[in-house]
Amino acid sequence: MKFSQSTLLWLAATAAAAPSKTSQESPRAVAAACSSAVSLDASTNIWKKYKLHANNFYRKEIEEAVLTMDASTAAKAKEVANVGTFVWLDTIANIAKFEPAIAEVPCDEILGVVIYDLPGRDCAAKASNGELKVGELPKYKTEYIDVIAGLIKKYPNTAIALVIEPDSLPNLVTNSDVTACKNSAAGYRDGVAYALKTLNLPNVIMYIDAGHGGWLGWDANLKPGAQELAKAYTAAGKPKQFRGIATNVAGWNAWDLSPGEFSSKSDAKYNACQNEKTYVTTFGAALKTAGMPNHAIVDTGRNGVQGLREEWGNWCNVKGAGFGIRPSADTGVELADAFVWVKPGGESDGTSDSSAVRFDSFCGKSDAYQPSPEAGQWHQAYFEDLINNANPAF
Ligand code: GLC
Repeated sequence: MKFSQSTLLWLAATAAAAPSKTSQESPRAVAAACSSAVSLDASTNIWKKYKLHANNFYRKEIEEAVLTMDASTAAKAKEVANVGTFVWLDTIANIAKFEPAIAEVPCDEILGVVIYDLPGRDCAAKASNGELKVGELPKYKTEYIDVIAGLIKKYPNTAIALVIEPDSLPNLVTNSDVTACKNSAAGYRDGVAYALKTLNLPNVIMYIDAGHGGWLGWDANLKPGAQELAKAYTAAGKPKQFRGIATNVAGWNAWDLSPGEFSSKSDAKYNACQNEKTYVTTFGAALKTAGMPNHAIVDTGRNGVQGLREEWGNWCNVKGAGFGIRPSADTGVELADAFVWVKPGGESDGTSDSSAVRFDSFCGKSDAYQPSPEAGQWHQAYFEDLINNANPAF
C-alpha cells in the first residue's frame, strides 16, 4: 500500500508516549472469549475498554523470523509478537485468516482487521495492485465483503475494529488525474459505501482510511478530502458503528514532533498539519463540518525514527525506520481514540525488483530499503532494523 505521490510531503517526529515495556517472551495464557454478544458503542472510545489483540498470524511470522536472529534481537522480537497488530484481509483467499484469528480473542481485547481488496486497488501506485480489476465490484461485494460480514455475524461475541480500504478515497481526492484512479473512482465510492453499510454490525467499530497529514492535510485538500469521506458515510446510510478515520496507516509520520519533519520546506506554509496530532485535530474539524463522525485511530507502528524520508510522500520500506509508540488509548487528545499498529512491521511495502510487474519506482528510491520483497511478504532484514531502531526501545 502506499501513499500517494501526489501532493505532499512532510512529517513529524518522534513521539512521545510513554514506553510501555513488556518483557514477556512467551504468548500469554489464553483468556476466555466473551460469553455473550458484544455491542460496541460508537459514541464512546471503545479502546479505553478493549486492548488491540496481538494475533497469532503475526506471532508466527515472528517466530519464524527469530530462528535466524542473534540472541539479543530475538529477545526483542518476542516482545514485538505481544504487541497488538491488525490482520490484513487483502485477498479473497486471505479471508481464511479471519476465523482462526477471531477464535483467539479474549473478552477484554478487540481484533483489528483491515478491509483491503477494492477493484483496481492502489490506483496511484503499483506495489499493492490487487486481485480485482476495475469492473469487478459485484465480486468485491458478494465474494469479499458479504463473506466477511457473514463471519462477523457468526461470531457476535467477538469485538472487531475495522480499518476500511487504505488509500482508496484519499487517492480520489489527490490523484484524480491518474488514469487508473479515474477508472477506479466509481467502484471505490460504491465499494467503500457498501463495505460501511454491510459491515455495520453491533460487535464492530469502523474507521475509514484518511491518508495522513502529508496527504489530505494540505490546505487545498482538507475540504475536498472531508467531503469525499463524508459522501461515503452518507451513501452508506450513516452507519451506527462508524466512529471516524484511521490515519498514517502503513505510514511514517510522527504523532507530535514539533516543528514537523518537513516544516522547513518551502511549501510547508500550505500545510498546517505537520504531525499526525495536528492532522487529527484539523482534518477532524473539516470532517465535522462535512457532517461525519470524526474520531481517529493513528498507526504508530513504524514511526519511531524521523528524518529518514527525502520527501514527505515517500512511502516504500523507508530505510532506518523503527517501531513506534505501542498501541494505547492514552493519546492525550480527545479526537484521537488510540494509537494502533495497523501495518505489521516486517511485511514489505513493495518490491525493489525493477523487473517485477508490481515494481513501483518509489521502492527504488534512495531512501527505500533494497533489496525488498513484494508487498506483504516477510522482510527479515527490515524487521530486524525496525526492532533495533524502535522508539520506545524494546
Ligand atoms: C501491503 C500489501 C498487502 C499486505 C499489507 C500489510 O499493502 O499489498 O498485501 O497485506 O501491505 O503488510
